Amino acid sequence: MNQPITKAIVPAAGLGTRLLPATKSQPKEMLPVGRKPAVQYVVEELQAARLSKILIITGRRKRSIEDHFDVEPELVAALERAGNEALLDDLRYLNKSSARFFYTRQSAPKGLGHAVSLGRDFVGDDDCAVALGDSLIAGNDPASPLRGMMAAHKHVGAAAIIAVEQVAPEEAFRYGIVSIDGDSAIPADEPVAITDIVEKPPTGTAPTNLAIAARYTFSPAIFEALQRTAPDRKGEIQLTDAMNILIRMGLPVYAWLLPARHQRYDIGNFESYFRAFIDFALADERYGYLVRKHIKAKAYEL
Ligand code: UTP
Repeated sequence: MNQPITKAIVPAAGLGTRLLPATKSQPKEMLPVGRKPAVQYVVEELQAARLSKILIITGRRKRSIEDHFDVEPELVAALERAGNEALLDDLRYLNKSSARFFYTRQSAPKGLGHAVSLGRDFVGDDDCAVALGDSLIAGNDPASPLRGMMAAHKHVGAAAIIAVEQVAPEEAFRYGIVSIDGDSAIPADEPVAITDIVEKPPTGTAPTNLAIAARYTFSPAIFEALQRTAPDRKGEIQLTDAMNILIRMGLPVYAWLLPARHQRYDIGNFESYFRAFIDFALADERYGYLVRKHIKAKAYEL
């Protein structure tokens, strides 16, 4: 049981309706953020956290995710013939891959909880990590929060550790918000016990400003909780409801505040997608200086 966590689930089967028409025929997880598709950042984070088996939950219109993580000998051969070292280097993410990829399809978008439940056979009796395919962690070493969560998970014998971020009180209604004993001023990078989770609390009712932030570690108990979770009004199985069941079962569920240097970007709507694109393009080691120059020039016109 004290083996390190090696398995991760990446739910990427949602419809992405908030990003239509961009997502009409391509997965939102494949939208570029700077020079890479969003899901590549997620996978690189998982690999850097030494997760060696990655299950991606896909669905209809999501084939390109599988193609993206598959080697393409013809393309590599053509780039080698052309002597294009820079582009070959950009494709190295395939060769140096320290992870094995697995795929399963969620044939209808029955909710995030349902997507995670499809990982049950893959996970078996092990603990696992879950990283949403449409959320990126920024900063130097973006894997460090997840690494910390996985180590703490083993150390405290958690049923779940849930990454959280501080949000403005007027924004809390958009998120799953956790309750803890005490106020929202919790230390970063440490597990803090959660007493309840409220999904999208009406304005003014949020118990804290700590919002669930797309990274989790779970013991196999989550699958039992998911099985017990009733569908919501839209007929979807929500992961938040299953996590509340874990708490009601008396199992230890913790929050893990992401430190400010590891801001999370959700690309699920256009406002946050644009923000992510701009910030990642600015941070790009090859092109960032050009983007900065362009934005500075543009700022005069605004
Ligand atoms: P969202 O809550 O953003 O839902 O999913 P969505 O369906 O993708 O997008 P909208 O609301 O239609 O615009 C958060 C994450 O959970 C995955 C998504 O792919 C995304 O990575 N997800 C969501 C699933 O895998 N299956 C689902 O049924 C729902």
